[in-house]
Amino acid sequence: MAFLEVTNVTKRFGGLVALNAISFSVAKGEILGIIGPNGAGKTTLFSVISGFMPPSEGDVHFDGAAITGISPDRLVRRGLIRSFQIVQTFADMTTLDVVTTAALARRPIREAIDYAAHVLNRVGLGGKENLTPATLSLQDKKLLELAKCVATDPRCILLDEVMAGLTMAETTAPMAIIRELNSQGVTIVMVEHVMPVIMRLATRIVVVNFGEKIAEATPDEIVKDQKVIDAYFGEHLDA
Ligand SMILES: Nc1ncnc2c1ncn2[C@@H]1O[C@H](COP(=O)(O)OP(=O)(O)O)[C@@H](O)[C@H]1O
Ligand SMILES: [Mg+2]
Repeated sequence: MAFLEVTNVTKRFGGLVALNAISFSVAKGEILGIIGPNGAGKTTLFSVISGFMPPSEGDVHFDGAAITGISPDRLVRRGLIRSFQIVQTFADMTTLDVVTTAALARRPIREAIDYAAHVLNRVGLGGKENLTPATLSLQDKKLLELAKCVATDPRCILLDEVMAGLTMAETTAPMAIIRELNSQGVTIVMVEHVMPVIMRLATRIVVVNFGEKIAEATPDEIVKDQKVIDAYFGEHLDA
């Protein structure tokens, strides 16, 4: 069985079928990209995998065990974490507090604060420990979202549009962090609209449209797939 295995996952919200029998697997150490138009079900898929909502049908396995229905905090302790597409800010916390809270998932308090400071430095937020997240630029908010994930010592990270809204120049830092994590053995699943980023980072891409998986292939094959072009790329093939 693969490191992360999604089998026939269906998610209904009332009459809306947000995910329809989605299956795919992710090998240990891989970077898998997930793309698809807005509303395709990508964030819902991450919510199901990471334990934030149960699937209506289907199963998720991680590291050889069924994890369907296991809570997010327990999954974090097993090394599976997701980032949030909408960056959450906390009025009374500093960036160091936020990352320390994440680090506490797997470390005792006496280590968590130092480790959080180390992680902030590693993602390029050194010197911003005492700022409140709300005052950060969008790029720094996205780096903070990455830092929260990294601080939990993940073995597999689900990244939900961590580059959205950034300029191409601003994507350099998060791309380098993702590459470095991956080179250290962290498995990455990333939903991303910024095509040059996903084309460069992903070894394989799954395409979702209206809750269905319509393609799964290498980046080179994906851009030539007529179903994908029709559903997603339009005329922006070289984007
Ligand atoms: N909690 C929810 N309750 C009801 N409908 C939802 C909920 N979350 C997502 N949806 C719907 O499910 C579909 C997929 O949404 P989402 O997973 O956010 O798509 P994506 O991330 O691909 O843009 C959309 O039609 C959205 O409106
Ligand atoms: Mg989304």
